[in-house]
Amino acid sequence: MAQVLRQLNIPENPNLIVGSATGDDAAVYKMSESQALVVTVDFFPPIVDDPWFYGAISAANSISDIYAMGGKPFLALNIACFPSDLPIEILSEIQKGGQEKAAEAGVIIVGGHTINDEEPKYGMAVIGSLEPGKEVTKSGSKVGDKLILTKPIGTGLITTGGKQNVVNKLTMDKALESMSLLNKDASEAMMDVGVNSCTDITGFGLLGHMKDMMTSSGVAANIYSSKVPILDGSLELAKSNIFPDGTNRNIDYVADLVSWDPSLEDHMKLILCDPQTSGGLLISVDESKLELLIGQLGKSGNNISSVIGDVVDLEGQFHINILP
Ligand code: CO
Ligand code: CO
Ligand code: CO
Repeated sequence: MAQVLRQLNIPENPNLIVGSATGDDAAVYKMSESQALVVTVDFFPPIVDDPWFYGAISAANSISDIYAMGGKPFLALNIACFPSDLPIEILSEIQKGGQEKAAEAGVIIVGGHTINDEEPKYGMAVIGSLEPGKEVTKSGSKVGDKLILTKPIGTGLITTGGKQNVVNKLTMDKALESMSLLNKDASEAMMDVGVNSCTDITGFGLLGHMKDMMTSSGVAANIYSSKVPILDGSLELAKSNIFPDGTNRNIDYVADLVSWDPSLEDHMKLILCDPQTSGGLLISVDESKLELLIGQLGKSGNNISSVIGDVVDLEGQFHINILP
């Protein structure tokens, strides 16, 4: 959910297990003692040239907010904006990408709405389900937890480089593959094992989403920057100062609580604050379950699942230490 919507005033309702107050990825609404609905919506303008991939990535991104909560997505509605002067075949191809990705997730698209707009936009409202009480929020991280990231970061750098034609095909293909990968297996692995906290990494970058998790959990973190997986090619772009508009906003967003080890080079900020599209899950898990979770995550062969840091005590104030 977008951050501006966090200001929304939501009436008290005993069935609303997770609302917007915690800034979680999706709302959770209890239907019965055994079933809750998980509800979310997301859409954005094209980040890549290929219309099929744009549709598939946007679908994977929309569905991801259900996975981040530990839900099983099953139903979706398309949301599209499209200019009247572009060939309608492009819209068909975008929706085909979305449809095929949704099908891979076991989600059926049951309708949608398209309006005319100058810039194309595409996404989905997605509904999932889970057992009430099994939802995974951002607010459950505990001191001693290990922090795991299930996809490499750097998609903002690479898509920005792509728009400037300074990214080779192999690098772009790897980024497309990563962005269109569903967080399905990662979510199922974390639900099998049982974890304390989770969120997906999107527009606010790794550190922005980590800030949200740390502040709503009331804990701090140490991050080992050399352990953070990054997409091939993104480091070079950061070193060349080719990065998306949103990065500086993200750097500002975390400035009050992040401290950077003096040995770190400046381009590390551009990477750790790089706005992601359809990024991986950031999972906070009890150390005793770490090995089991890594094993489960490895089963599908899709996820990179790196241990990137530790949850530590606040010691008086929120902080994220970025270490080498
Ligand atoms: Co989202
Ligand atoms: Co999210
Ligand atoms: Co969540």
